[in-house]
Amino acid sequence: VTLAGPETATEDRASRSAPSFEDLLAEMSSTLLRATTDQIDGEINRWLRRIAFAFGIDRGSIGQINHVDGLLYTTHQWSRQSVTPMPHSMNANEIVPWLTGKIMSDELVVLSRLEDAPPEAAKDVQFGRTMGTRSVVTVPFKVGGVVVGAVAFDAVLRRRTWSQRTIRRLSLFAEIFGSALQRSRTAAEIRRLQSEVRQISQIVMMGEVTASLAHELNQPLGAILSNAQAARRLLNAKTPDLKEVGTALDDIISDNTRAVETIRNVRALFQRVELTTSSLDLNQILLSVERILRSDAKTREVSLRFELPASLPAVVGRGTELIQALINLVVNAFDSISEAGAGPREVVVRASQNGPTRVHIAVRDSGKGIDPSIMPRLFQAFVTTKSKGMGMGLAIARSIIENHGGRLWATQNPERGATMEFYLPADGNAANPG
Ligand SMILES: Nc1ncnc2c1ncn2[C@@H]1O[C@H](COP(=O)(O)OP(=O)(O)OP(=O)(O)O)[C@@H](O)[C@H]1O
Ligand SMILES: [Mg+2]
Repeated sequence: VTLAGPETATEDRASRSAPSFEDLLAEMSSTLLRATTDQIDGEINRWLRRIAFAFGIDRGSIGQINHVDGLLYTTHQWSRQSVTPMPHSMNANEIVPWLTGKIMSDELVVLSRLEDAPPEAAKDVQFGRTMGTRSVVTVPFKVGGVVVGAVAFDAVLRRRTWSQRTIRRLSLFAEIFGSALQRSRTAAEIRRLQSEVRQISQIVMMGEVTASLAHELNQPLGAILSNAQAARRLLNAKTPDLKEVGTALDDIISDNTRAVETIRNVRALFQRVELTTSSLDLNQILLSVERILRSDAKTREVSLRFELPASLPAVVGRGTELIQALINLVVNAFDSISEAGAGPREVVVRASQNGPTRVHIAVRDSGKGIDPSIMPRLFQAFVTTKSKGMGMGLAIARSIIENHGGRLWATQNPERGATMEFYLPADGNAANPG
């Protein structure tokens, strides 16, 4: 068979007409090095073609083993028009077991005639025939020190012999392909990890939003239920006290309003939505907390005392959020007292001005104190020592206080119980909370 034309140039013709090997190598490594990760694949295909033209090769292909499904994927290839392209993927262990073994043990395979393959390569030879392969060089390449695939250079239109020099040169090309692929694989891996992290953090965040809502709705829903039950009891009386019923209904309405606002706030807390803020009188906020928790304190037989100065500097923020944060701290104090069993049952909420720029608030209880083992993770979501706890109360309180430019921390009392304290920047100092 005689074939002419540039497409079937022999090695000698190629070295006379085409750029020198050194030029080709230099250009290839610099283009592949400069290519951005989304250009690499296109560049590799282009270089397979150029190498084929320069070396009289009819099909150049890169196969990469996927360690998840065990298949060999043809990730890049170029072949002359009349030449069958490599299949997109195949079970290499089944179809070309001998070659696969060679590749995986990082061995070069050079066959000037397909028939030169050893008898154990029977399956491989059969596949080679269906692909029209007459001569082949296969060079394994590694990523991160591990063989991940091979570059195959096939002669199809006519058989050819491979000189030592050609083999060395093809091996160098394969090495450059390998390092380019390493770069694009690393980029792909980073992208995969990034999207995984994004998904996980979205799931975590959804979990926290859901838990926060459940947590913050517990208190108002409980209050609504007990007021509704009170109203029903009052109406069952022979001569119902309609004024009392009215009070219960008013409480239900205000608890409901608080629940609705809570839903909005919790969403805003995690979505970083800007909510409108206003100048707040902390004494008013503390009195609201007192009113909301008064009946809880009574049923739990805890004395809840507020020590408030005549006046406090205003703080800028959202009142319902600060009320929520304080409720969480006081309810924890109630829980701690209940768990302690015997002993004084007292919660004191004290507010004071702390220098010209800060307001300080402390919730001190006579409970069992904070379990030292959870101290380092106290404010993390889902950290709890209670059988029915969600571990959300302190996480929510901290994020509210910090969104207001303040800080929240915990200390054990010297005698008994714990104190949860926080400060808030006074109006005009929000940007400089210290
Ligand atoms: N005043 C306190 N005294 C002692 N331990 C406390 C006090 N406040 C919080 N803790 C400890 O911190 C843990 C976390 O509190 P947090 O309010 O975040 O969750 P929780 O109260 O367990 O559950 P919930 O989500 O229902 O509020 C509690 O389980 C408790 O062990
Ligand atoms: Mg709690």
